[in-house]
Amino acid sequence: LYIGLDVGTQGVKALCYNTDTKEIVGRGAASFGLLPTNIKGRAEQHPSSWIEGCAEATQKAIEGLDPEARARIRGVGVSGQQHGMVVLDSNKQVLRPAKLWCDVEAADEAAELSRAHGRMIVPSFTGGKLLWLKRHEPDVFAKVRHVMLPHDYVNFWLTGRIVAEAGDASGTTYYDMYNKKWDPAAMELIDEKLHQWVPELIGSNDIVGTLTPEASSALGLPQDAVVSSGSGDNAMSALGVGCVDPGQMMLSLGTSGTLFAVTEIPLMDPSGAVCPFADATGKGLPLMCTLNCTMPPQEIASSFGMTHPQLTELAQQPENAQPGCGGVHFLPYLVGERTPNWPRATGALLGLTPGVLSRPGLLYRAALEGASFSLLAGLHRMMQLGREHGTPDHALLSPSELRLVGGGARNPLWYAC
Ligand code: XUL
Repeated sequence: LYIGLDVGTQGVKALCYNTDTKEIVGRGAASFGLLPTNIKGRAEQHPSSWIEGCAEATQKAIEGLDPEARARIRGVGVSGQQHGMVVLDSNKQVLRPAKLWCDVEAADEAAELSRAHGRMIVPSFTGGKLLWLKRHEPDVFAKVRHVMLPHDYVNFWLTGRIVAEAGDASGTTYYDMYNKKWDPAAMELIDEKLHQWVPELIGSNDIVGTLTPEASSALGLPQDAVVSSGSGDNAMSALGVGCVDPGQMMLSLGTSGTLFAVTEIPLMDPSGAVCPFADATGKGLPLMCTLNCTMPPQEIASSFGMTHPQLTELAQQPENAQPGCGGVHFLPYLVGERTPNWPRATGALLGLTPGVLSRPGLLYRAALEGASFSLLAGLHRMMQLGREHGTPDHALLSPSELRLVGGGARNPLWYAC
């Protein structure tokens, strides 16, 4: 039996899987939100909420198992939200809340790193956040001795060991995808001491360690259960749905919308629209990500106090079903945007005529269409890059299938869009 933990932005999901019977034998979840703030562009969480979430979700996932089955749990693997900046002091204590992937406060620092790297780096990436910390909170920065990503931090809490692996490290700005090691020149652009603060790198197939007594008792798992390297959530989703070979593409419809494909070699995009990630097996995982995917339709659902199935039904009524929503456009940039790189953008409703604001089905469809067009722009850019990097008769990226994951994948209206 094995435990999988997904440490996301809205909570932790846990499942327990029996590899002999190939069955999921338990599931659990715990939710949390962002820390309250009035500061525009800020999106932060305290790492302790991830730990509490892991404990709660795991306990729920195993509560139906008898003691003998619990004793057979052999390992744990963590998938984490990418890019978040977690900083620890010399006593390995967390110094401040983590700045998350969807935090766009470091827009100026990301622009500065973009100029230095000669390619666009979006504010989501960890490097810009560290530079922001150095400029805006120098007292905190002076105490930093360890810098890591959310799933690295959870692995540290589980085992006591601070390590990182390629998939998540490739979302920092200071990991060298081609040579599979930290990039000294890129780290120097942020701080001359950063190379002392980054984790030891381990292989994607390596084991981090076994559970500490504290983690074992908080989760209710045997202390000799091993913790795998895990990875960032996109690399782990790719692995989870079997997207491991060139020719396969994946679309994740979650809080963020991500579209990615496996390539034999990393794919660098000077425009920054496509991020040059590594997957969890050593291949390339070029990925585009929008910050506003399921959030715009959720906004309509919350405003009208309606459920997604109710709105989906309304949106499919003939009066709401014309492609283009009869000229109503929902520009989905509720939390700024990353692809395109408009960190300070806001959303907008265009094409309003009398009565439109009281048509939830139409507005819901417009929200889905707006988010879908962002994803489509990313798809076009990815295909273009694949053609540019390939040979005349063989594009580097020629997907023949698309696999869907994320909460939005359950809603048929997305397929219509
Ligand atoms: C990918 C990204 C998001 C987060 C969501 O670059 O920022 O998909 O990983 O958790």
